[in-house]
Amino acid sequence: WGPAVGAAMSVFVTRRIPAEGLRVLTQASGCRVQQWDSEEPVPRAELLAGVAGTRGLLCLLSDRIDREVLDAAGPDLKVISTLSVGFDHLALDEIKKRGIRVGYTPDVLTDATAELSVALLLSMCRRLPEAAEQVKSGGWTTWKPLWMCGYGLSDSTVGIIGLGRIGQAVARRLKPFGVRKFLYTGSGPKPESAAEFGAEFVPLTRLAEESDFVVVTCALTPATQGMCNKDFFSRMKKTSVFINTSRGAVVNQEDLYDALANGQIAAAGLDVTTPEPLPTDHPLLSLKNCVILPHIGSATYATRSTMAVLAANNLLAGLRGEPMPHELKL
Ligand code: NDP
Ligand code: DGY
Repeated sequence: WGPAVGAAMSVFVTRRIPAEGLRVLTQASGCRVQQWDSEEPVPRAELLAGVAGTRGLLCLLSDRIDREVLDAAGPDLKVISTLSVGFDHLALDEIKKRGIRVGYTPDVLTDATAELSVALLLSMCRRLPEAAEQVKSGGWTTWKPLWMCGYGLSDSTVGIIGLGRIGQAVARRLKPFGVRKFLYTGSGPKPESAAEFGAEFVPLTRLAEESDFVVVTCALTPATQGMCNKDFFSRMKKTSVFINTSRGAVVNQEDLYDALANGQIAAAGLDVTTPEPLPTDHPLLSLKNCVILPHIGSATYATRSTMAVLAANNLLAGLRGEPMPHELKL
């Protein structure tokens, strides 16, 4: 590939994406596609070179799209389409100032991400990774009444931080397990969303104190950054389980480590960390009661394919000056 030049609809794609999505772009009339065709992130210098003069940018959550990138792109850049529902990697103020439109991928990944959140919760509350390890290591000597016990969902209280699309989909999946009470936090009560679960809007402190299971499904914003910290974990029950499938930076990882190591909470399951990837010598990885997944919330074949097609269609619609299937209101 080389630097983008001239074409009416030149676009730069920052990674190898599912073929169905790329095809939408390559088959669109007048669309000239340049791509960082690799499984690995585009190096910053290549990103800066690749965006120069393009009208459209299809990026990933691992690409920091800030003033430097926008300056490198120049005034022709009209549309940014991210292959994600999260948009904390985009400098929205700068983007808005330049009149650039933004597309994203809500809804299509909600089910997959909710499913993964529930999978992580069940794995941790019933200690599946630890138990499976015992089978391999010979720790399984006989059936023991007091061995490998965990915590069940029946009659429990579940606290959801951010009752948005994914938060509601998590609650919908957990309800049939016999959850007694749902609590939630956010920027304000959402009676219409909460009604289906009889969920109660509470301050974060009360959610921490009363929940047996906490699931974080909010967006990363200045208000949510570092929100799950020492104070939060110290209020949680010793028997409680903490799950984060939103963004790593919502959690203060040192405080989480202390809470897990000191028995302040029972277990944690994280699909997202800071940084990503988490260094393999990170202290959290030394804990038996913590499992970390490599940000696979939306990783089903069908979901990733649908996300790619949606991101491509957002980009094309934006370039044509048409309404996007999913445009982020700036
Ligand atoms: P939504 O916009 O539907 O939901 C975001 C929620 O965050 C809203 O309910 C919002 O509540 C809540 N929120 C905002 N501020 C606060 C706050 N201060 N305290 C508590 N909650 C707050 O987005 P989605 O449900 O579609 O996605 C949520 C996030 O999940 C994404 O932003 C992304 O970061 C992450 N994600 C991770 C994936 C993974 O692979 N692990 C996959 C997909 C998404 P309110 O409306 O009250 O402000
Ligand atoms: C998102 O979409 O924000 C996820 O983190 C990846 O699907």
